[in-house]
Amino acid sequence: MKLFMLLLTAIVIQGEEINDEEVICIRNVQHDIEVLKTDLDRPYSLVVDYSTNVLYFTYSLNNIDDVFKTGYINLNTKEFGDLEGVENGFTQTIDQNKHEIYIGTNNGIYKYEHAKKTAEFYALTGIDIWHIYFKDIIYYSIFPNQFFYTYINGEVMKFKDLQDTKVDQFVIDNEDFMFFTNATGLYGQRKGSDASKLYNEYNTDGIRALTTDINGNVFFCRFDGIYTVDKAVSSVNKVLDLNDVYGLAFDNVNNIIYSDESKIVRLIPKKDKAC
Ligand SMILES: *[C@@H]1O[C@H](CO)[C@@H](O)[C@H](O)[C@H]1NC(C)=O
Repeated sequence: MKLFMLLLTAIVIQGEEINDEEVICIRNVQHDIEVLKTDLDRPYSLVVDYSTNVLYFTYSLNNIDDVFKTGYINLNTKEFGDLEGVENGFTQTIDQNKHEIYIGTNNGIYKYEHAKKTAEFYALTGIDIWHIYFKDIIYYSIFPNQFFYTYINGEVMKFKDLQDTKVDQFVIDNEDFMFFTNATGLYGQRKGSDASKLYNEYNTDGIRALTTDINGNVFFCRFDGIYTVDKAVSSVNKVLDLNDVYGLAFDNVNNIIYSDESKIVRLIPKKDKAC
């Protein structure tokens, strides 16, 4: 059902695939395409632990039922594997200070510590988590109604700034400004206020991933490419055209990592190569 909701926002475009030789132009700089992993089914919810440079993501095991695995790729060594101790994780987030990964599953939240190498149940038995985000505290939305909560010291509360709003994706930027998406579109809102501003309407083909780079600037992807936000004019700008993008993250030196329906790639700028 979750995958179905995700696919509802998808237009599958059969078209040219980027081949590995090709160079990509982003903001007038040439980028090499490094393929990190192929043969995955729709890798989604990409996050990077900056201290270890390990990428975590969800991928689907078959495309009929909701059966998900949480995989990782060590971006330094390219080692790939599945996380032990967690099933049907659909969304993840990182506490970058403590190097803990929180994984939202169809049965609550699990926590993975890199050093222990196994995930353990953390909280919220029986709750189906749709989206999870960590900044100082845990924020999460639940499936299917997408209401939005915080979890602090064992206590669940509706997040007061977004009391009456459905939340699909959520991030907080480097200036304590929140961005969230729902079936209407992308909104920005100062933390501590309840006045949201519509950045762009996406009634169909919505945002599949909302994230920040290592400097806390906000980026997102839709099926047709990667975008950034412009807070000065409450609007969005397209950074890169791509086909069928599912997930987006940045590694610990701020390279773009994205996934499409079958693979995960990294874009590495070529020094002094304008385009
Ligand atoms: C999305 O959030 C905005 C701002 O809170 C709200 O006005 C709108 O009704 C929401 N859309 C949906 C489909 O819930």
